[in-house]
Amino acid sequence: MKKDLIIFGTANMTQQFLSEVDRFGAVNPVVLTVDRQYITADRMYDLPVVPYDELVDKYSPEQYDMLMVRGNGKPQVFQQLYERLHDGPYKLINYISPRAFTDSDLVMGDNNIVYAGADLGYGGVMGSCNVIRQQVYLGHEFNIGSFNTFRPGCKVGGMLRMGNHNEISLASAVRDGITIGDECVVGMGAVVVKNVDSYCTVMGVPAKVTSVKQHE
Ligand SMILES: CC(C)(COP(=O)(O)OP(=O)(O)OC[C@H]1O[C@@H](n2cnc3c(N)ncnc32)[C@H](O)[C@@H]1OP(=O)(O)O)[C@@H](O)C(=O)NCCC(=O)NCCS
Repeated sequence: MKKDLIIFGTANMTQQFLSEVDRFGAVNPVVLTVDRQYITADRMYDLPVVPYDELVDKYSPEQYDMLMVRGNGKPQVFQQLYERLHDGPYKLINYISPRAFTDSDLVMGDNNIVYAGADLGYGGVMGSCNVIRQQVYLGHEFNIGSFNTFRPGCKVGGMLRMGNHNEISLASAVRDGITIGDECVVGMGAVVVKNVDSYCTVMGVPAKVTSVKQHE
């Protein structure tokens, strides 16, 4: 039987996730929630929207699990939200599409989303809140942190080492054995053949650093 699920988040990626579930899902989203001040409608995408502070009275944590779906806001804000929510009362699940390929030895934290057509190699380790989009290939023995996004169609060779808050864009390719730091962007179509230092954006073939983000 499909598990009843609460989705935290109402932004466009929630619609993307609901489309995945509509096609292939193994879960049953029943309600959307966000903090009260961000509510703009009482129904979205054919689901009720309930303020987070009212949720526990109506949806028992014994019966419902939760998945947080990130919008377009700052990743650090999403991380703060995750840190607030992950100690309960709801269990944060990992969603792995029935149409994704993963090995049984995959080690993952919580609140990761693996979409249809993704193919993850053996011996992989990931933290939490990563999003692996459609048709991503993520080669064997990867070890990645948290809050990373792999956009549709990117191909990554084995042994990737990667920190947190990175974006690997549409149809890029990353050679095997590469290390990527934190808060990097790999541009769409880039071919990464060297390690990428934290805060760098890289683009092109072969990929070159085009900007370095200011950070505290
Ligand atoms: C890397 C990226 C973030 C750069 O975006 P940006 O900073 O807004 O860049 P701009 O569009 O302003 O372009 C700046 C310059 O870089 C070039 N450029 C942009 N993206 C490029 C790319 N991926 N590869 C090569 N050159 C690129 C532009 O042609 C432009 O060149 P010009 O100054 O000579 O005209 C963006 O290209 C990207 O990859 N976005 C992610 C797309 C994606 O995966 N979407 C997910 C959809 S599901």
